[in-house]
Amino acid sequence: MPGIVIVGTQWGDEAKGKVTDFLAKDADCVVRYNGGANAGHTVVVDGKTYKFHLIPSGVLRGKKVYIGNGVVVDPDVLVDELENLKREGFNPNLRISDRAHVVFNFHKIEDGLQERLKGNLRAGTTKRGIGPAYSDKTARFGIRIADLLNKEILKSKLDLLVSFKQKVICQVYGENIRLDKNEILEKALQFGQYISDLVCDVSAEINDALDRGETVIFEGAQGTLLDIDHGLYPYGTSSSTIAGGACIGVGVGPKRIDKVIGVMKAYISRVGTGPVPTELKDKVGDRIREVGKEYGTTTGRPRRVGWLDLVPVKYSIRINSIDELIVTKLDVLSGINPLKICIKYKCEGRTFDTVPADIRLFEKCEPVYEEIEGWPANVDWRRIVKEGYDALPKQAKEYLQIIEEHVKVPISIISVGPDRRETIVREKPQR
Ligand code: GDP
Ligand code: IMO
Ligand code: MG
Repeated sequence: MPGIVIVGTQWGDEAKGKVTDFLAKDADCVVRYNGGANAGHTVVVDGKTYKFHLIPSGVLRGKKVYIGNGVVVDPDVLVDELENLKREGFNPNLRISDRAHVVFNFHKIEDGLQERLKGNLRAGTTKRGIGPAYSDKTARFGIRIADLLNKEILKSKLDLLVSFKQKVICQVYGENIRLDKNEILEKALQFGQYISDLVCDVSAEINDALDRGETVIFEGAQGTLLDIDHGLYPYGTSSSTIAGGACIGVGVGPKRIDKVIGVMKAYISRVGTGPVPTELKDKVGDRIREVGKEYGTTTGRPRRVGWLDLVPVKYSIRINSIDELIVTKLDVLSGINPLKICIKYKCEGRTFDTVPADIRLFEKCEPVYEEIEGWPANVDWRRIVKEGYDALPKQAKEYLQIIEEHVKVPISIISVGPDRRETIVREKPQR
């Protein structure tokens, strides 16, 4: 299975980082295909926690890691991540696409100003400049990594872009923030020098790797409901988070993708604004947030949490052609009784089992739940991990079985703790 996409099936933070690190054991390369430093992917190995915003999660396995053209690169974050890894004794084998775009500080300023202007329509962004950077890319104002290696081109592009941004900041938003063209140019050139040996045509390298029969993991950021086209617009992000984004964001054809793995949390979480039909604003919600440590990896914001909602998961399976699901954070639900799973919505006298495009309709959707007996709080997960799937509490197996029955996709792996080793691989997923 050489080309494998790992995609979030919900609102992000499904534990794609953990899953990517786990599966990277048997891969040769890992490539990020979308998003930027808005992503926060956590990997825990032998009790030690690593957080990645830009560097693919396979880096701790010593694999070749790539940042694809679909990513927007924040220089400060990338330098920080690389230097931290080096300090920890790692030797990251990283390559960056010459076609990836650069996030500047003025994008972050603009991000905050846009959110302020949007009021109720704001997505509650990470303020990492993601929307403005992708807007500039699409409007063909953007600066690509390749531009950082050519002073003349960079200067002419930045001259135009910075003058334009200055006008937007002062004249549109009425803010008295001064952008220093020379400082911005110098910093960009310095970053270009820092990464010059890492810049390459990632599409060519990944296609060559696939030709050689190597296994490549395409690591998605965010989740399907945050996708620019198929997500809950406008309460999402600005990139193609879905599996199809892997082709665009790396430069491989659809035939290069052999398998799509959907990562699904055993409940839902959402950081940011917008409707969440199964949100829990009660003690059960507080308990899930505390036990699951549901606080943003990038912003530290408390995440909204709720019962597992299978409507977005089914939608996600369709949009991404998901072959198998990995269920994460099952341990977090221990001791909650009963448990609920949303299987469809009721809205204005009608039943829905998919995500509507009309966000006002989605806002009115009421979940229809199936209630399930929970399992005890005092589960010995260590023993279960050792013994395997069959050792799971019978109620937990039932929970997983109900999911499979509704979504009609097999669950191949179950994660029951943040650490790499707290993972159960199911021997024969049911088909
Ligand atoms: P990502 O953005 O999809 O990579 O997910 P995040 O890293 O933002 O959030 C997932 C969080 O859950 C991280 O803090 C992980 O360390 C943690 N985590 C991952 N898998 C499990 C699990 O099975 N159980 C528990 N309790 N925590 C987990
Ligand atoms: P990972 O990869 C969860 C959310 C923000 C906001 C919306 C737009 O860790 O799963 P942006 O900064 O992208 O313009 O914000 O998307 N968001 C995420 N939520 N996980 C993420 O990434 C996210 N990246 C962005 O909270 O609602
Ligand atoms: Mg995250």
